[in-house]
Amino acid sequence: MSTSKRVSVITTPIYYVNDVPHVGHAYTTIAADTLARARRLGGQDVFFLTGTDEHGQNIERIARERGISEQEHCDVISAAFRSLWDRYDIRYDRFIRTTEDVHRRGVLKLWARLRGAKTPDGRDAVYLGKYSGWYCPRCEGFKDEEELRQPDNVCPDHERPCEWTEEENFFFRLSAYEGWLRETIESDRLRIRPDSRRNEILGVIKQGLKDFSVSRARVKWGIAVPEQPDHVLYVWVDALSNYVTALGFADDGEAYRHYWAGGDERLHLIGKDIIRFHCLYWPAMLHAAGVPVPTREFAQGFITRDGRKLSKTTGNVIDPVALVERLGPDAARYFVLREAPYGADWDFTDSAFVGRYNADLANDIGNLVSRALTMAAKYCDGKVPAGWSPAGPTTAGAVAATALDFTRTFATTVCAPNAGLAAKVLGRYEEIDFSSALAELWGFIGQFNQAIVQAEPWSLAKDPARRGELEAFLYRLLEGVRLVAVLVSPVMPRAASRIFGMLGLGEREPGPADLAWGLLEPGRPLGSIVPLFPRVDRDGEPKKETPVSETTPPTLDAPAPAAATPVPAAAPAPGGDRIDIAEFAKVELRAAKITAAEKIAGSKKLVRLQVDLGTESRQVVAGIADAYEAEALVGKTVIVVANLKPAKLMGVESNGMVLAGSIDGKAVLCSFDAEVAPGTKVK
Ligand code: MSP
Repeated sequence: MSTSKRVSVITTPIYYVNDVPHVGHAYTTIAADTLARARRLGGQDVFFLTGTDEHGQNIERIARERGISEQEHCDVISAAFRSLWDRYDIRYDRFIRTTEDVHRRGVLKLWARLRGAKTPDGRDAVYLGKYSGWYCPRCEGFKDEEELRQPDNVCPDHERPCEWTEEENFFFRLSAYEGWLRETIESDRLRIRPDSRRNEILGVIKQGLKDFSVSRARVKWGIAVPEQPDHVLYVWVDALSNYVTALGFADDGEAYRHYWAGGDERLHLIGKDIIRFHCLYWPAMLHAAGVPVPTREFAQGFITRDGRKLSKTTGNVIDPVALVERLGPDAARYFVLREAPYGADWDFTDSAFVGRYNADLANDIGNLVSRALTMAAKYCDGKVPAGWSPAGPTTAGAVAATALDFTRTFATTVCAPNAGLAAKVLGRYEEIDFSSALAELWGFIGQFNQAIVQAEPWSLAKDPARRGELEAFLYRLLEGVRLVAVLVSPVMPRAASRIFGMLGLGEREPGPADLAWGLLEPGRPLGSIVPLFPRVDRDGEPKKETPVSETTPPTLDAPAPAAATPVPAAAPAPGGDRIDIAEFAKVELRAAKITAAEKIAGSKKLVRLQVDLGTESRQVVAGIADAYEAEALVGKTVIVVANLKPAKLMGVESNGMVLAGSIDGKAVLCSFDAEVAPGTKVK
């Protein structure tokens, strides 16, 4: 194995087996899988770990209720997770279960190290102490009295009374690691992102850290504490340890040494609900035990549905099995990663899912692939046309003016080795900014689709003198399609391999060698064309397809038909204050989808919006908070003036303006009367 490769571990939380998988679990796992695939594509050496968290009081209770043993219950639910990951094309390197013996041995090794550890000020890192407090069996944790709802000391998360508990427990002296944690996080040796979560954790440290108990009496289903066999280790100590036990910590195994101890990055993808355990407890315990600590933690936002928290009681859960079955794994993976920036909360709506499928997948990428391949089949006898290199002169001779832009785009933005399409998109994946990686890629897809309309290959085909020009154009287009397949493969592995099949490269997963320009060999036969993403109707049902011809422009990015372009009046319009069409054309109006919204503190009217403009995500400040609740705005498609100079409102930068009218002085947003894809021009 080459030592120059960057080595990393990527993990998801291990999921509780108290219930069947949830869409939030799928979200984190898709993100981790995508990042792992993107890193492998970039030539990195990656270990991707996921699994199930199988111990604790909740499992004891559920198994009892079901009349089966704890192990039987865990086996069934853990298998459900693995089968779901198969459906989502998740390719993990290891699926850990905390009921495995190798995990138990690893946890006990870590425990022994902690028992012998000293704090920076020379005290025992673990000590025996008395604990009394309100315990929530569902959270498996003690609660502060102020958090509980009265009467009955009800846990706010589980709506059930907590129990007053007194017991002798082992404690971990977290308070002694305050300084070390602050320094590690502030210096970014432990990089916590998004920044808001980093600040939240630094805020918790500032308030003072409390020691926490690491053993539990009364729980049987867990790893027994050797010194006190009627106690088990606290479920979070048990669970967090999976990140090293799965790699072979118990026996100092090869994977542990290579990926964890010797690797360049130890990255945990987590939800915002579990950041304290991951960013405070876990690094402090590892540090005390003399084990390398994580280097990066990224907390994803939460998915809501129709503006509300997902909950079985309100009946608004999103079934991850139904989601993947509806339009296939590629569409589900694409949607959750594209719809919102990874760290933000966002709202799932069925119409957005179907809308994105039709706009981004059926229309944009689907049309591009089918048009490029149909033209190559028709004009080049189903073979790769003559080559074209960004360095050399085109073999085509004279290039039509309309095709010039496309040539320039290729030479400078697509093929450039360190600044081209591949470098940009892989860089965004690396930043865990999936929506921008995809927006960047879709920007190119839009350009390629537009280039077809401009170059009019069907006209070139009619003129034998322009044969070279036609072939050079189609070669670039097919190479563009190939690169799109390579770069989309971390998110949509199936579509990528099918595109490779259509290009005559065999259905396979793209690898690092495929990132280079010009790999299609002129004269080689192309494969047969298969539909990638057939259109669906509003309910997600297959639509009767209108066949796409090479001249059919995609709905987006196509220039407006000439007849629809308003013709400027020959004589000056009456009324000197009217503007002419050229002035109006300076204003760039675009459809924008709100992906996050938050009221600006101290202002009655202002709300900070994060909007998806199709090719980028932007922050816009709008004066509509008196008429709309921030949460209700997420998911709406509005109209934004996209080319306004940035301005600051109450110190917050705004990059655009949202259009609205008003009724009785209250803002009313302008919108569309059908689903329009983000970024669509409004004219
Ligand atoms: N077992 C612990 C984790 C131990 S890790 C050492 C646990 N499990 S869990 O099953 O409750 O999963 C929690 C994770 O699921 C969250 O951190 C998050 O990644 C994901 N999500 C659960 N609900 C979610 C949403 N509604 N939206 C997005 N993700 C959420 O906690």
